[in-house]
Amino acid sequence: MTAARQKATNVTWEEGLVSRRDRYQILRQKGATIWFTGLSGSGKSTISAALERALFKLGKLSYRLDGDNVRLGINKNLGFSEADRKENIRRIGEVAKLFGDAGTISLSSFISPYAADRDEVRRLHEAADLRFVEVFVDCPLSEAERRDPKGLYKRARAGEIRNFTGIDDPYEEPVRPEIHLRTDRLTVEEEVSEIIDYLERNGIIKTGSPDAPGSPAGRVKATEVAAHSDAEGGTE
Ligand SMILES: Nc1ncnc2c1ncn2[C@@H]1O[C@H](COP(=O)(O)OP(=O)(O)O)[C@@H](O)[C@H]1O
Ligand SMILES: [Mg+2]
Repeated sequence: MTAARQKATNVTWEEGLVSRRDRYQILRQKGATIWFTGLSGSGKSTISAALERALFKLGKLSYRLDGDNVRLGINKNLGFSEADRKENIRRIGEVAKLFGDAGTISLSSFISPYAADRDEVRRLHEAADLRFVEVFVDCPLSEAERRDPKGLYKRARAGEIRNFTGIDDPYEEPVRPEIHLRTDRLTVEEEVSEIIDYLERNGIIKTGSPDAPGSPAGRVKATEVAAHSDAEGGTE
């Protein structure tokens, strides 16, 4: 995807009086984007909902940005042509970036079939000094089609839906995703804990929240210390 052209002239970014770092301190976490990509029916929405719940239990604020929801709202004027898919992803990338700047961990679930579009979103995040975690939700087409949670493959095979990824539209697999999940081999719980482990290992979240049931007192203390260092970093 080539970056969208700037149409309006004489516009500049307006700085406020509260910094990103201030916001992160209020929330005791850093913003980030977890980007799920994979075939329809691979498990993006299922994993993202389970992850949201797991993060909530750890006292972390996340927010799901999901294909259909977004296409019913901010992107209701877009279809599934290559140009519209690009614009769909570009807008979501920008929305996720705003969420990250606000301090939220956004969980974006979009087929996002084109590598160039995903890379562009990654670049947007890097330029804004925001973490971007690409999760390849990998499921063989045969299994996704067997699951067919919304009956869409059946309709695509019958020719009732055109431009359907995996059927008559391509899916470009991520080459170096941060996380690669084979959803035909793992349980949803295993997938969620793999993501949580990654987020902890890479300093995106610090766990041991006082609200976490059964949290040992020592960990709670460590979290309170961590909450401060957690809020550091990131340009304002
Ligand atoms: N290990 C797994 N991970 C994720 N989903 C799974 C798994 N095993 C079975 N499923 C099922 O696969 C379907 C995935 O659907 P969904 O999450 O809507 O996919 P997508 O959002 O990628 O289109 C759900 O019905 C879910 O219950
Ligand atoms: Mg979905």
